Amino acid sequence: MSVIVNVGDLRDRAHRKLPKAVFQYVDGGAYDELTLHRNREDLNALALNEHVMVDVSKLDTAVTMVSDKASMPMAMGPVGMCGMVWPNGEIAAAQAAEAFGIPFCLSLFSINSMEDIAKATKTPFWQQLYMMKDRAVNQHVIERADAVGCSALVMTLDVHVHSQRWADNRNGLVAPLHLMPSNVANMALHLPWAVRMLASKSQTFANMAPEHPEAKWVIPLAEWVNNGLDNSIDTDTIAWVRSLWPRKLILKGIMRVDDAQRAVDLGADAIIVSNHGGRQLDSAPSTISVLPQIARAVGDQVEVFWDGGLRSGFDIVKAMGRGAKACLSGRAWMYGLAANGGKGVTKALNIIDQELKDCLSLGGFTDVKAIPEGTVTAQPAL
Ligand SMILES: Cc1cc2nc3c(=O)[nH]c(=O)nc-3n(C[C@H](O)[C@H](O)[C@H](O)COP(=O)(O)O)c2cc1C
Repeated sequence: MSVIVNVGDLRDRAHRKLPKAVFQYVDGGAYDELTLHRNREDLNALALNEHVMVDVSKLDTAVTMVSDKASMPMAMGPVGMCGMVWPNGEIAAAQAAEAFGIPFCLSLFSINSMEDIAKATKTPFWQQLYMMKDRAVNQHVIERADAVGCSALVMTLDVHVHSQRWADNRNGLVAPLHLMPSNVANMALHLPWAVRMLASKSQTFANMAPEHPEAKWVIPLAEWVNNGLDNSIDTDTIAWVRSLWPRKLILKGIMRVDDAQRAVDLGADAIIVSNHGGRQLDSAPSTISVLPQIARAVGDQVEVFWDGGLRSGFDIVKAMGRGAKACLSGRAWMYGLAANGGKGVTKALNIIDQELKDCLSLGGFTDVKAIPEGTVTAQPAL
């Protein structure tokens, strides 16, 4: 086995271990994947301007994210169907986040339920919400999240309709599910994965199952979920959610200054500058490119989080230097989960944390919350 030194190595390991359809579900983006690639390209293009003659023997990497402590400025963002890459994947991921001391956000479309996560952990986690057409479903999800003690509700605003992910379409990993014979054969070839999957506590969208008890198994439930997304979400919808949810509300999927201001007016505690990791509107700009203007416009009125392309601790410093209060990650920890379950997630977090500390030390920055203005710039022209 090759040595794992960075998230790219975890991705390679995930690629080998997962059936093709599952790997492409995690790794891919929407349509031509222009935005997926922009997220990374624009991060890569940024330069870090270092200071020397600074004592970096003590570093501070801790932050709070909507009052929750984070040992580094990163939460594990909502990722649907973690249980498809590792049995009880959401439980394993939430436990790894808890042990590391960072917030974990459970996707609404998860294979383990929020009640499972609450039983398996002691630290309050965040619950993500997709708006469904049926208001009673949303209300019940919010009540369940309240009952299990979630500290924040993360309302995702950019999945009011499904985008096309062509790899998923080709693989038949869409509702109604119709996997291609070649994909089924490919799954059988990944025998350790297939055997591991048998140990899953749940074989369906357990987080949604209480909302539609008649759909007893995954295919009808997936179809119901797929057809149930609310494409009429507007500011009234958010005001309604705000009125029901008693704790912190985070709005995910903000890409413009005017929408960020609207989120403030609606009483959000935080926003996530996010293009869904390049999985929704293709041709959207990279998140790192729109972050500074959004952060500048809203100032301290709301906490500004960022995601999209985070693969290393260096990316965290770049986002913090461009105005983020903290970051979220999707694929980086998912590659770890696919590579080796909870231990793989911990590996991903350790790698990112070490890179963050290396970057701070090498750059002459002691406090991740105070990256000096002018640190992160476009490459100086030659
Ligand atoms: C496989 C996969 C599934 C995702 N599922 C959800 C989800 O259920 N809810 C949500 O709000 N975002 C979801 N996202 C988006 C992530 O929360 C996050 O915005 C994105 O992954 C950030 O980009 P990154 O993967 O480059 O870190 C998903 C992302 C991936 C890769």
